[in-house]
Amino acid sequence: MAERNILITGGAGFIGSHVVRLFVHKYPAYRIVNLDKLTYAGNPANLADVEGRPNYTFVKGDICDMDAVRDLLSRYDINGIVHLAAESHVDRSITDPLAFARTNVMGTLSLLEAAREQWGGCYDGKLFQHISTDEVYGALGPDDAPFSETTAYDPHSPYSASKASSDHFVRAYRDTFGMPAIVTNCSNNYGPCQFPEKLIPLCINNILHRRPIPVYGKGDNVRDWLYVEDHARAIDAVFHRGRPGESYNIGGGCERKNIDIVRRITEIVDRLTGKPSGTSLDLIAYVTDRKGHDLRYAIDSAKLAHELGWRPEVALDEGLEMTVRWYLDNRAWIDDITSGEYMKYYDSMYGGR
Ligand code: NAD
Ligand code: DAU
Repeated sequence: MAERNILITGGAGFIGSHVVRLFVHKYPAYRIVNLDKLTYAGNPANLADVEGRPNYTFVKGDICDMDAVRDLLSRYDINGIVHLAAESHVDRSITDPLAFARTNVMGTLSLLEAAREQWGGCYDGKLFQHISTDEVYGALGPDDAPFSETTAYDPHSPYSASKASSDHFVRAYRDTFGMPAIVTNCSNNYGPCQFPEKLIPLCINNILHRRPIPVYGKGDNVRDWLYVEDHARAIDAVFHRGRPGESYNIGGGCERKNIDIVRRITEIVDRLTGKPSGTSLDLIAYVTDRKGHDLRYAIDSAKLAHELGWRPEVALDEGLEMTVRWYLDNRAWIDDITSGEYMKYYDSMYGGR
């Protein structure tokens, strides 16, 4: 096996932590360097089980800091980059778009430029894999075919506009400088360690605290749900066997209206906490819709299935059950986040955020 020194950015976040764990365990001969700024969304507790592994290094830093990134690429002789670091929450992008342009656009560009300098045009054995979203394709109507890799970009939110821009920069580095790069566009993930601002963990946490579950609009918006470990497996397959220069869509093939997801979670939480069925339904609260709320996302992952044999392994019901159980078994994880304790603790270890 070729020597691989892989930089994973955003590895302390939700999806990144699952990718780091998979790579550290599956490839003991690789060196995995996790670069994460530890924003509000980054939580080293997500990787407590990986700390101390001989092939794992955590570096607290900002992808926008080119000097620091250059130094890292050189120090660890990085030959593969899996880039997940981003501002990821659509609602925050509506209240603070500039933060999304900074990290998602300028951060990605800084990383590309540092890699171009470090690799010096010698791209043999190198790969830049950019983790992106289905939201770049815009919104589908109820009867439209799912997004494919050839669907035109049509982002609507500041978040999706910033991700679309970063995808374009990655492709520009491929086309202009010949950098071997792959973009993956994935649908909605769910699973352990997802920050409780996102629909599913927010819903679980609010039920546990008997607080209202805010459902935007009528709850008719549709998302295509994928268990996070299936996404990590797809990233692994694409990193090792994907064709440089290509894009791959990754989706769960599992479309649900938000209200149906919310109702299903109330059922699971009620059952697992020993409450009569239907107890938590009255927590559902229809609230003002998200501005520019995309109606429907759905992903066609046929290319990934045909070329690399990847398919989701976790069915939605099984995945939701595992997710609810994880949050019930890890109440301290979420309580530390909602109380802000996780920031104080890690600030003392790694310095201020
Ligand atoms: P997340 O918000 O949970 O984690 C993001 C991580 O990036 C955090 O650890 C944060 O500290 C780090 N980070 C943020 N800004 C940084 C910076 N300037 N420098 C270094 N690190 C920084 O996000 P997530 O949900 O795990 O998403 C990860 C990636 O996957 C993102 O690029 C996102 O666009 C993409 N994605 C997410 C989903 C989803 O459903 N969550 C679906 C498709 C694609
Ligand atoms: O599609 C992939 C994207 O999925 C990723 O690129 C993003 O990083 C990720 O955050 C996610 O974006 P969404 O906006 O789809 O996820 P969120 O969990 O915020 O919302 C899911 C749906 O639920 C969406 O239609 C909005 C709705 N919603 C969300 C929240 C937080 C509610 O109805 N109530 C809520 O409180």
